[in-house]
Amino acid sequence: MSVLKDKVALVTGGSRGIGRSIAEVFARVGATVIICGRKLYSLEQVSRDNEVLPGRIVPIQCNVARAEEVESMVATVVSEQGRIDILVNNAATNIYNGYALDLGEAEFERMVDTNLRSVFRMIQLVAPSMCERGYGSIINIAATAGMRPEPLNLLYSMTNAAVLMLTKSYAVELAARGVRVNSIAPGLVQTEMSSYVWKDEARLKAHLDLQPVRHLGQPEEVAEVALMLASERASFVTGQNFVVDGGSLIA
Ligand SMILES: NC(=O)c1ccc[n+]([C@@H]2O[C@H](COP(=O)([O-])OP(=O)(O)OC[C@H]3O[C@@H](n4cnc5c(N)ncnc54)[C@H](OP(=O)(O)O)[C@@H]3O)[C@@H](O)[C@H]2O)c1
Repeated sequence: MSVLKDKVALVTGGSRGIGRSIAEVFARVGATVIICGRKLYSLEQVSRDNEVLPGRIVPIQCNVARAEEVESMVATVVSEQGRIDILVNNAATNIYNGYALDLGEAEFERMVDTNLRSVFRMIQLVAPSMCERGYGSIINIAATAGMRPEPLNLLYSMTNAAVLMLTKSYAVELAARGVRVNSIAPGLVQTEMSSYVWKDEARLKAHLDLQPVRHLGQPEEVAEVALMLASERASFVTGQNFVVDGGSLIA
């Protein structure tokens, strides 16, 4: 199977968790995948671990919250790979769990910079050349927390809600120029970011008791949906949000 053969994908936050799985699933079907993150050694390890795949995983260091690093990364990828066909805005953080009234401007700025402004910035830099070529798929990884307020998690819910609307707004404008823009909203998935939930046995049990699909979500289960959206199999799909949460939201 080589549905992404000759395609160039850029996946932010590809050193672990959901981003790493997306990179591996894309490379398995032939894509050249550039992964970024703040720590080069962990990106290089992902690349080494996947040398036998049909596609390639190429590491590049970049903090998506820093404009100059993002600009330099996009310029490097375009000069080395020729173009970007698929953009996955996956990198995000969750620095604060606590009462909304205890939040300060510094936390607000950091969460907006990393989770929201980075997505806007990436699309502003990458989408124009996609439009010129009349081809592109942009996938923004949001969260079900952006669809229903997560307790004690105002900034995470707020930034993810904004990513959902940003997705739809871009989709409306870019569709006629051949660029599709969709989002994925995962529920609880077993990664480092969510370890404070699933490592707590009582909390995990309470979550799974209410989740129709009883197992803890795995990064690959998000990555497979990203593959569908990245490929031409989803050529008639834009502006949509795909909830990947084992049915938690509807239960
Ligand atoms: N896990 C869940 O339960 C869950 C649920 C809903 C939504 N999501 C969403 O899924 C996406 C991936 O989350 P995850 O659970 O896989 O997280 P994770 O395991 O913490 O991985 C985050 C990735 O992003 C990178 N990253 C973090 N901050 C960055 C920055 N400023 N610049 C560049 N890279 C950065 C990290 O690498 P470095 O630290 O080396 O930079 C890492 O590769 C996020 O958008 C998250 O909101 C996750």
